Amino acid sequence: MPRLLEILNSAGEFLQKKGSPSPRLDAEVLLANILDMQRIELYANYDRPLDKRELDLYRQAIARRGKLEPVAYIVGHKEFFSRDFVVTSDVLIPRPDTEIIVEKVLGYLKSFNIDAPEILDLCTGSGVLAITLKLEVPNSRVVGTDICEKALKIAKINATKLDANVDFILGDLYGDLDRQFDVIVANPPYIKASEMDTLEPNVRLFEPKLALDGGSDGLDYYKRIIKESSRYLKQAGALFLEIGDDQAAKVAEIGEEAGIFAPAMVVKDLASKNRGIFLKRLK
Ligand SMILES: C[S@@+](CC[C@H](N)C(=O)[O-])C[C@H]1O[C@@H](n2cnc3c(N)ncnc32)[C@H](O)[C@@H]1O
Repeated sequence: MPRLLEILNSAGEFLQKKGSPSPRLDAEVLLANILDMQRIELYANYDRPLDKRELDLYRQAIARRGKLEPVAYIVGHKEFFSRDFVVTSDVLIPRPDTEIIVEKVLGYLKSFNIDAPEILDLCTGSGVLAITLKLEVPNSRVVGTDICEKALKIAKINATKLDANVDFILGDLYGDLDRQFDVIVANPPYIKASEMDTLEPNVRLFEPKLALDGGSDGLDYYKRIIKESSRYLKQAGALFLEIGDDQAAKVAEIGEEAGIFAPAMVVKDLASKNRGIFLKRLK
């Protein structure tokens, strides 16, 4: 019977040939998932034989990764803000970069002493922003919206799994909402339509187009979210938007044109790239 180290080595070599940027890591994560182990436990089990069922499952997983399907879709989950979220191909895989939006919102609520905020997460997808904010700010009341029913189903599964009381509503951005919020967050689709074909294959071939395509200039969603926010944001409320690295100036300009916000503040991520825009409502 083949043993764990041998299997890992050959899976790693296979994934390298197929163009995975992290072949050994992928091989380990996929095997640990099937054996229900932490990755680190593999190292103490190099001599462990794999039975037929485990081998079959592993071969299927490695074949999928060989076609560049993201590991998160194969294992069915992804960590965000130290919590484990279910993901399927109906939702964008949450990115670590998006965590900066949560941190900025938490900092904002603290500095303005807002203890029981009403929070709206537009384009919620797997629900990571809505659920994380609800769990980090237990007195908050949080709503998440998405236009994709299948994505909302995953968001609801995550809310139940993580015990977060969030209202998920199907709708086109603000949809039928008829109330105002202290904070609105959104990580909307923001890739230019013309750049969709140039995305890495793991994104282009597997992640939902609806979660990526931001229209001809990539700004369609920002224009709508900012323009329509005056109806849904309280007088002193704040809007936190994730953006692409090259979109800060344009989104700040859209904010200025709305005429109700203080000058936009750009949020940088850990790699010092522009990652978000913060707009504070003044009137
Ligand atoms: C970039 S993903 C963000 C998912 C999640 N918030 C995150 O940060 O990982 C964008 C999401 O917007 C949703 N979406 C696209 N068009 C929408 C619309 N008009 N109204 C509401 N949601 C929309 C997609 O279904 C997708 O789930």
